[in-house]
Amino acid sequence: MDGRRNFGQRPAMRNPIIVALDVPDVARAVALAEKVAPHVGAFKVGKELFVGAGPDFVRQLRATGAAVFLDLKFHDIPNTVAKAVAAATRLDVQMLTIHTSGGSEMMRAAEAAAQETARTLGRPAPLVLGVTVLTSMDSAALAELGGETDVTRQVARLASLAAGSGLRGLVCSPLELTTLRALLPAAMQLVTPGIRTGAEKADDQKRTLSPAEALRLGASWLVIGRPITAAADPAESAQSIWAGLQATSATAL
Ligand code: C5P
Repeated sequence: MDGRRNFGQRPAMRNPIIVALDVPDVARAVALAEKVAPHVGAFKVGKELFVGAGPDFVRQLRATGAAVFLDLKFHDIPNTVAKAVAAATRLDVQMLTIHTSGGSEMMRAAEAAAQETARTLGRPAPLVLGVTVLTSMDSAALAELGGETDVTRQVARLASLAAGSGLRGLVCSPLELTTLRALLPAAMQLVTPGIRTGAEKADDQKRTLSPAEALRLGASWLVIGRPITAAADPAESAQSIWAGLQATSATAL
């Protein structure tokens, strides 16, 4: 039987949009979150907002039922990172980031802390996402550090190390999706910023893909900031990106 005819049975697509709440204060973050919540899958809280607003803001977001991605990119000795991951797990975030360059022992400690703390609390473990080479770094910047100077090779090396250390997800640039999908276990979740719809200017993102292209190349989640947050009508922008993805997925089935 041709499954494509079973329109009624097509499973609902999970909303893969993570909106980056890149605003300096709680009032603006709450206003933005309220506007776009019906059209997105999660909210990303980064260093600026977290350092300014603290864990209470994350609790406030979680109380609305929204999924939260805490993007603090931990990088420290294994024991310290494990404790920070345990604290983030107690905050009940669904995703968080660590630097893979902290090494395999640090990554294993982070993943174990997420799993063990979640088990104690009786809830699913947050997805611990590894950051490989910051996209602000090029081969000259890598050369300054010594070691590998080819960005793609270094990304692949750190991504393999992350997978071998038990991480279940990575943050990667749109242009790394194809390489990483070929290299990593299929279950690895790839979270991709650098998304642009074409309706806006590219801002400071030099390597971008549209939401549908990024999903087609293997992204699991899309981090979208300014195309939504700087739009004249953020709710309308989020709604239209989500509707576009659902339409593309329906056509692709
Ligand atoms: O506004 P824009 O869509 O560029 O926002 C993207 C978000 O993803 C920002 O919060 C940015 O810090 C983050 N990010 C990124 N590139 C990376 C990692 C994270 O743009 N390589």
